[in-house]
Amino acid sequence: MHCAQMGDTDFKVSDIVHGTYKAGGQDWGAVNDEDSIATMKYCIDNGVNLIDTATGYGMGRAERLIRYALDDEDGKRRGKTKVMTKWYLWQGPDEEMIRSLSPETQAQFLVGSKKRLGVDRLDVVLLHRDDTVTPIETAIETLAKYQSEGHIDHIGASNYSLEHLERAQKAAPLQNYQPRFTLLEASLRDDGRLDFCREHHISIGVYGVLGKGRLAPGLKDAGEYPSWDSRSKSHAGPKWERWKRAHAELQKVAERQSLSVTQLAIAWVLSHPGITFAIIGASTPEQAEHNIAASGVRLSKDVLDECEAIVKEGLGK
Ligand SMILES: NC(=O)c1ccc[n+]([C@@H]2O[C@H](COP(=O)([O-])OP(=O)(O)OC[C@H]3O[C@@H](n4cnc5c(N)ncnc54)[C@H](OP(=O)(O)O)[C@@H]3O)[C@@H](O)[C@H]2O)c1
Repeated sequence: MHCAQMGDTDFKVSDIVHGTYKAGGQDWGAVNDEDSIATMKYCIDNGVNLIDTATGYGMGRAERLIRYALDDEDGKRRGKTKVMTKWYLWQGPDEEMIRSLSPETQAQFLVGSKKRLGVDRLDVVLLHRDDTVTPIETAIETLAKYQSEGHIDHIGASNYSLEHLERAQKAAPLQNYQPRFTLLEASLRDDGRLDFCREHHISIGVYGVLGKGRLAPGLKDAGEYPSWDSRSKSHAGPKWERWKRAHAELQKVAERQSLSVTQLAIAWVLSHPGITFAIIGASTPEQAEHNIAASGVRLSKDVLDECEAIVKEGLGK
């Protein structure tokens, strides 16, 4: 497994990180906890040393499943991986949704995340997004206070704009940033955020890499998804047919590199200097094995450009 430094810390993080959004069960219909746990265990046993989660993934469910995976079999996987959680979303006592990063809410997240993960100290905590009420400075200073008190090792933010990042970094140094970045949507690279993070030694771990199945190894049409899945609507129509032609072209590029389209998409993001890891939400150990095989693969500038040109055509841009 290829690893690189997280920011200025001494943590060398694997370039493939396991994401647990799906394990939370929301937006994904019926999710099998056994598959979720088996996939976490497979990832840890095969060199993935960071698991990404959030309080909002199933309102604590994903965090609890991670604890189960780490404690199972006499806790033999504890210490082999770190956990990165994100704070912002929670469900109140009357089932109302709470979207807040106020100091009071963060105090509750701190207690709750520690309890659900079964730890005294959290490895990495990111603010999931701007809550639009708490000033960025207040939110980050609160998180940094927990770091200086020894409750959290590393801190950062997700989904912040360049302006948010600038304000946050002035309030306290960040170690990690989590934006969307994919062959399908590369604004991170073009709007100054990538350069800002490199300049300030903030490592970047990206999500969205497989474009909700559009960069899966084999494409599935709308009818192959259950009705609760948004892909049962989006994977149809003339735009979808155009995308299928682009996917076939990407397939040819991937084959030249002895990769699948999915591995090409992972290698594409990891080939950008400043991107430290890709967070991939594998559903099964088999998917995880396929994705982990892209660790350490880097593409030449010509191949990066060729992929982007194909995707632009496929998206009608
Ligand atoms: N910070 C944020 O706001 C944010 C937002 C979204 C996600 N994330 C994080 O990023 C992680 C990844 O989420 P994402 O939205 O970027 O999803 P993704 O990883 O692009 O896609 C996840 C889906 O891709 C499919 N997949 C993965 N590996 C595959 C393989 N080898 N072959 C075929 N299909 C494969 C699975 O689909 P099937 O369901 O068909 O099996 C899985 O459900 C999340 O779990 C979460 O930790 C963060």
